[in-house]
Amino acid sequence: MIAAERIAALTARESERFVAANPRAVAAAGRGNSWFGQVPFHWMLDWPSPVPLVAAAAQGATLTTIDGQTLNDFCLGDTASMFGHSPPALAAAIAAQGTQGLSYMLPTEKSDAVSALLASTFGLPRWQVTTTASEANRAVIRWCRGISGRRKILLFNGCYHGAVDDVFVDLKNGEPTMRASLVGQAHDFRGTSVVVEFNDEDALEAALAGGDIACVLAEPVMTNVGMVRDAPGFLHRLRALCDRTGTLLVFDETHTISSGFGGHSNTHGPMPDIMVIGKSIGGGVPTAVYGFTEAVATRMAALNAARPAGHSGIGTTLSANALAISAMQAMLSDVITRENYAVMLAGAERLVAGLAAVIARRELGWHMTQVGARVELLCSPVPPRNGSEAKAAMQPALEALIHLYLTNRGSLLAPFHNMMLVSPITSDKQIDQLVASVDALAVELLE
Ligand SMILES: Cc1ncc(COP(=O)(O)O)c(C=O)c1O
Repeated sequence: MIAAERIAALTARESERFVAANPRAVAAAGRGNSWFGQVPFHWMLDWPSPVPLVAAAAQGATLTTIDGQTLNDFCLGDTASMFGHSPPALAAAIAAQGTQGLSYMLPTEKSDAVSALLASTFGLPRWQVTTTASEANRAVIRWCRGISGRRKILLFNGCYHGAVDDVFVDLKNGEPTMRASLVGQAHDFRGTSVVVEFNDEDALEAALAGGDIACVLAEPVMTNVGMVRDAPGFLHRLRALCDRTGTLLVFDETHTISSGFGGHSNTHGPMPDIMVIGKSIGGGVPTAVYGFTEAVATRMAALNAARPAGHSGIGTTLSANALAISAMQAMLSDVITRENYAVMLAGAERLVAGLAAVIARRELGWHMTQVGARVELLCSPVPPRNGSEAKAAMQPALEALIHLYLTNRGSLLAPFHNMMLVSPITSDKQIDQLVASVDALAVELLE
């Protein structure tokens, strides 16, 4: 156990170092503009640094700041740019579309090609586009309720699926509880959102037994409460229980697309009834998709035919616009490829091996978790089995120090729970530099 005083002292020193190295970012934070909180989106304040860095540009796996810092980017827009910033094919597609109109509320010829690419990449025959993964999840929940006639959904404790009201229910001492941090929450979802612990087959079986749950919405590996791996056989049991109880299985693969070509479902199985993918599918252009089986599509069509004309509550104006379709075509044709996954996975292996060696050499009692190209450093000895264990294992002060220390030495991690993504153009040198910085911090922590 590293002493809190040591962590605090190093954090103070590193904060000073950050401020000295980033005078323009500090000035920008203090200058005063019309943004609420000085940034155009309040999450940009969620970094552990004293003020947010101010980005100048990014290319490949490198981000530069207005202070002239060059950072090896392992955050990659928290997954949106996990295949690298501005891959040439994407940049060209966006530029070309830019002169031809961006939003028509009409399909284009390219959209046919994109549907074929989605089906062949992710192994589901039918697709729809939304503007964000949050929106895709909201749409999917609505469809599942609509076609099943069931009101309840099932979630795993500690999950995150975006700005989706129904999913902000936690288990506290075994009791469902609305997440206390929500802003302006008017509805209590405890009656319709059932929550069990990940990897708890008995609880899952009991919850589904009533046959009144429309869908299970899950990440195949939890990635938003630290990373929690599926226990051997758990996902196949989940699939079997859903089949037995007529429950739709939705895998939100927004993050687990890192697992391999076709996402976690195609890499490791099982296949869901509905799959959601956001963020990286447009390489940073706001767009997301959900895919589903022919059986689900038939039920959706029947529901559509039977309901009165009017608002469906599903969809937003910019969804599937020409820019989004062009971006996805470039990403799926040239960037989200088996070849690029091979490079990403090899890089991630190198990163895990390097950091695991540091942990062992310095006897830190931490561990690494890997989901393909997504890697996480957890400051606890044992991998958590569920959301409660993952929350209990968190060490916010230490995690923040690691993040700040690495930023000061040119490696940018995701702002939440020290997650690292390895892109197809992340170099061994960038990986080795990150590993060396963690080793240097370990030495200082143990002094
Ligand atoms: C698993 C998962 N699903 C959905 C979302 C929502 O994505 P967005 O914020 O792009 O809507 C996130 C965001 O982090 C996520 O991690």
